[in-house]
Amino acid sequence: MTALTATALAHPNIAFIKYWGNRDQVLRLPVNGSISMNLEGLFTRTRVSFDEDLDADILILNGQDVVGSALSRVSALLDQVRGMAGKKLFAQVESSNNFPMGAGIASSAAAFAALSLAASRALGLELHEAELSRLARLGSGSACRSIPGGFVEWQTGQGDADSFAVSIAPAEHWKLVDCVAVIETGHKPVGSTQGHALADSSPLQAARVANAGRRLNRCRNAILKRDFRALAEVVELDSNLMHAVMMTSTPPLFYWEPASVQLMKAIPAWRSEGLPMCYTLDAGANVHAICPAEAAGQVAEQLSRQPGVQQVLQATVGGPARVEDIS
Ligand code: DP6
Repeated sequence: MTALTATALAHPNIAFIKYWGNRDQVLRLPVNGSISMNLEGLFTRTRVSFDEDLDADILILNGQDVVGSALSRVSALLDQVRGMAGKKLFAQVESSNNFPMGAGIASSAAAFAALSLAASRALGLELHEAELSRLARLGSGSACRSIPGGFVEWQTGQGDADSFAVSIAPAEHWKLVDCVAVIETGHKPVGSTQGHALADSSPLQAARVANAGRRLNRCRNAILKRDFRALAEVVELDSNLMHAVMMTSTPPLFYWEPASVQLMKAIPAWRSEGLPMCYTLDAGANVHAICPAEAAGQVAEQLSRQPGVQQVLQATVGGPARVEDIS
């Protein structure tokens, strides 16, 4: 038998309203909904090849053989796909990113979105977008948002069946750019999965979650109306709320570096002087500066001149995860 192979590509996404904390850690059912935009130009490309000659799954990440917890997490997702397809073949998974991993550019989102699409297609499954988004969610929560295109909302849902992401506006709807000020490129000490499990230990988490519906409405409306000022206010508020929860959990999680804080002070000041931009930070020190495309050149140049900023990546709004090849 020849190998069953498919290659898929997915973009990472940057959350405007953050996912932080699960009500079910295994199924990755979030405590609150979230909204993000996909990042064009940054991507993970994953080739999955199921082969009866293999006696275990193999993971090759950016050219390196990987074992341990990363392989187990990939195998668990492949088990889901094998279960759905009724096949018992092991697979070789080759995945590569064109952006730094583990530094707040949510590499797991693009990785599990691409893996879900490639693995399901390799075994002949033609899943609908919602089913693919649910599958990707099992690998990494934020990955469910890298399946649909453009501006995306992950609905909390009642359970596994209805917790998936949908596009609220296509990529062409609003020409925004994420200028990522890269401050560190190493792996973060505490990954998101462990962080989610600590969220409930913060006395601030209940208040953050209670108010999430209001922030989701403000953010969705700002996107639909292309109202940058309204978007900027709610995006910065939501990032600060998530980091307040992180910093007050037990043990506390501090992801910021001094250069991150300097940018968090400078960006609102530059905005009040007329340069449209706002900041958001994930579980890492990098600062994502969101701005309209017309301002991106000036924003990127200004960021690159700040101390501690190693480089500035620019990404416009990206499309959905897509299949590149099936054989
Ligand atoms: C801070 O999706 O990376 O980026 O489900 O454990 O893989 P796992 O967590 P992950 O968490 C993302 C957290 C965040 C905010 C966000 O992207 O919404």
